[in-house]
Amino acid sequence: MTVTTQTLDPHTVIDPAILYFGTPVVLLTSVNPDGSSNIMPMSSAFWLGHTGVLGIGARSQTAANLQRNPDCVLNLPSVELVTEVDRLALTTGRRDVPPAKAGRGYAYEPDKFARAGLTALPSDTVAAARIAECPVNLEAHVVDSHPVGDGALMFEVHVDRVHVHEAIRMPGTDHRIDPDRWRPLIMSFQHFYGLGDRVHPSRLASIDEEFYR
Ligand SMILES: Cc1cc2nc3c(=O)[nH]c(=O)nc-3n(C[C@H](O)[C@H](O)[C@H](O)COP(=O)(O)O)c2cc1C
Repeated sequence: MTVTTQTLDPHTVIDPAILYFGTPVVLLTSVNPDGSSNIMPMSSAFWLGHTGVLGIGARSQTAANLQRNPDCVLNLPSVELVTEVDRLALTTGRRDVPPAKAGRGYAYEPDKFARAGLTALPSDTVAAARIAECPVNLEAHVVDSHPVGDGALMFEVHVDRVHVHEAIRMPGTDHRIDPDRWRPLIMSFQHFYGLGDRVHPSRLASIDEEFYR
């Protein structure tokens, strides 16, 4: 590839405060000291195989819970659940709301399920509750964590069990999710979006999904 100084560069150098270009929202449930489940809306998340990587503020109730008890569930809301998700914004399960958060309008909420209008279901393999309304529940446990950036922790979790609503299963298959039916809620630069339709045939999709197992 030739790089020529004569090419007009269509970019402008900027210094954005955040680099949240768009990732799925996760409602992460973890176990409070009294055994109840906390819900944290978060979106700094991705998956590699059955490993999930989660970026979580160190001062959150969720970070404290996960350091005490590795059990969690990654509940994935569909775009239809945006109202419920937004009800959880600016809340924390921490009674002593950190001053920096209080200054940004955060308030203590001990019962996130009631606050959001969501229903708790017991999990099979972990003590954290699943969320009935979310089409995907990934039961998981923390395998590693380390500090990342300024005041955050990166948790590596292993997904032990996957529950899905029948509506997003690919017809005629046992273990596949149909991406045409799965409508994730996306957060991009603090705003909520959905996905559009499929835009192009995918050459990568010529690989059988089972190859990745
Ligand atoms: C849609 C959405 C996405 C968010 N993404 C993250 C995230 O990826 N990481 C993070 O630390 N906080 C994120 N937050 C903020 C946390 O939800 C917030 O810190 C909350 O107080 C944590 O709850 P907890 O203290 O009860 O654990 C997000 C908030 C919303 C509404």
